[in-house]
Amino acid sequence: EMVSEMASPIRVAVTGAAGNIGYALAFRLASGEVFGPDQPVHLNLIEIPPAISALDGVEMELDDCAFSTLAGVTKVDSDHLEEGFGDCNFVLCVGSVPRGKGMERGDLIRINGPIFTNTGKAIQAAAAKDVRIVVVGNPCNTNCLIAMNNAPDIPRDRWYAMMMLDQNRAKTQLAQKSGQPVSSVSKMTIWGNHSATQFPDYFHAEIGGTPAPEVIKDDAWLQNDFIPIVQKRGAAVINARGASSAASAANAALDTVKSIISVTPENETFSAAVCSDGSYGVDEGLIFGFPLQSDGATSKIVQGQEHNEFAQQKIDATLKELREERDTVKDLLN
Ligand code: NAD
Ligand code: LMR
Repeated sequence: EMVSEMASPIRVAVTGAAGNIGYALAFRLASGEVFGPDQPVHLNLIEIPPAISALDGVEMELDDCAFSTLAGVTKVDSDHLEEGFGDCNFVLCVGSVPRGKGMERGDLIRINGPIFTNTGKAIQAAAAKDVRIVVVGNPCNTNCLIAMNNAPDIPRDRWYAMMMLDQNRAKTQLAQKSGQPVSSVSKMTIWGNHSATQFPDYFHAEIGGTPAPEVIKDDAWLQNDFIPIVQKRGAAVINARGASSAASAANAALDTVKSIISVTPENETFSAAVCSDGSYGVDEGLIFGFPLQSDGATSKIVQGQEHNEFAQQKIDATLKELREERDTVKDLLN
């Protein structure tokens, strides 16, 4: 019998690849966990020049894992972004400064925003035709907005900012409160901004197929505990660890890629922030967290969910914040 030919490698770029998230991400990307055991992966690892030595160490460790799915590693410094994104099918934008104790994510906007103008331009110039981009570096929605606006030739449905960490946090809170396994929680949408204004929509979430409020039967907890726990979880991790979430953030980035490349089951959705087409009254062009379903290549915003007054107020608040962030970086949007 003929041995079937190996597929050609998927090329994945990771910026900030020697940082905390990058270090947790690279090995799992290389391991075959995301694209499958028969799909080779080539990693383009990108860092700023002072971190290239650390990146050498990451490459050594990747070598030392002897992953059969790792087709190769290309290390590139951030002065050569077009080389870094060359022919990439996925770009994971992690490289940027994380917030410290006492900062809000929005405080990073003028520090990290400028990174994403060059990122957008270089992705447009050099990436593969089918490129999909997931922005993790904060403030991720607005960084994604900046990159997208600097890459006008790339279809807007290729751009994602990460809401999956919030989704996963919310699922676990509902599972723990209800005493049900986390796998029984579905349709957990995070609307809006990856920030303290995000709206973790427990009304449309289900536990074992039943609306979460009917299972949990504790509206006070859902309103006054669940929502702020999820909104402020990033800060809680920073306070506890003295550093921003890394393993869980890398895990969420991989869950996002997996959700994009697989067909979403009919009765499930996943959360990411994507370019609004005006759905749910969100300004066209804003990068906003929505419930999504993928056909395995392209994700669509799930339509027709209805919001009560309480939920609509939450959505309006996070929309207002994203409009303000957009105004703050107007000069970077061309
Ligand atoms: P880190 O400081 O450990 O690593 C960041 C890395 O990026 C560093 O190695 C740095 O050298 C590199 N870098 C900086 N500027 C760069 C550039 N222009 N090009 C390429 N690389 C560059 O930080 P971390 O903990 O890995 O977090 C990275 C980002 O992810 C932060 O902005 C953080 O706030 C964000 N984050 C987002 C989420 C989310 O849910 N969206 C979750 C956790 C963290
Ligand atoms: C998180 O949610 O953990 C990250 O966005 C890091 C942060 O600054 O909160």
